[in-house]
Amino acid sequence: MSEDLRIPAYNLSHQQRYQELIPQVQALVGGEKDLVANLANIAAALHETFRFLWVGFYLVQQDTLVLGPFQGPVACTRIAKGKGVCGTAWLERRNIIVPDVEQFPGHIACSSRSRSEIVLPAFRDGEVFLVMDVDSEELNHFSEEDERGLMEIIHIIEML
Ligand code: SME
Repeated sequence: MSEDLRIPAYNLSHQQRYQELIPQVQALVGGEKDLVANLANIAAALHETFRFLWVGFYLVQQDTLVLGPFQGPVACTRIAKGKGVCGTAWLERRNIIVPDVEQFPGHIACSSRSRSEIVLPAFRDGEVFLVMDVDSEELNHFSEEDERGLMEIIHIIEML
């Protein structure tokens, strides 16, 4: 069986592209129990659909976030709790949209090409167990539309 993604047309709104993508993500991960395999395919599906600069996951290991599956330029491997956008989203247990990374105190610049960013934590048994990080080369790239679409993907991950 072909695993090809039907990539939503690039001229559709973000909301429409999430609508087309999310059932496919559900199908892609539905039959697989391995978290890393599923996160790898989700990163690839988001990267192909939106051509984000960087999309991937940091997994909680004790008091640190450790780099997990991603698509894009090489990235920092470890982020302490409370550090950068990712560590802050973990500490404060909330989604963070950063319209301009230069305006976020303590932002960790893994790629100098990243201009804006969104980070969403995923929860298991009430604790953050990973964060999804998405970076764009454009300023102010992420809207509430993205937050809603990515939240649906976070919910799929939380159900795995
Ligand atoms: N910018 C992030 C670090 C991760 S990389 O962008 C992939 C942060 O400040 O947490």
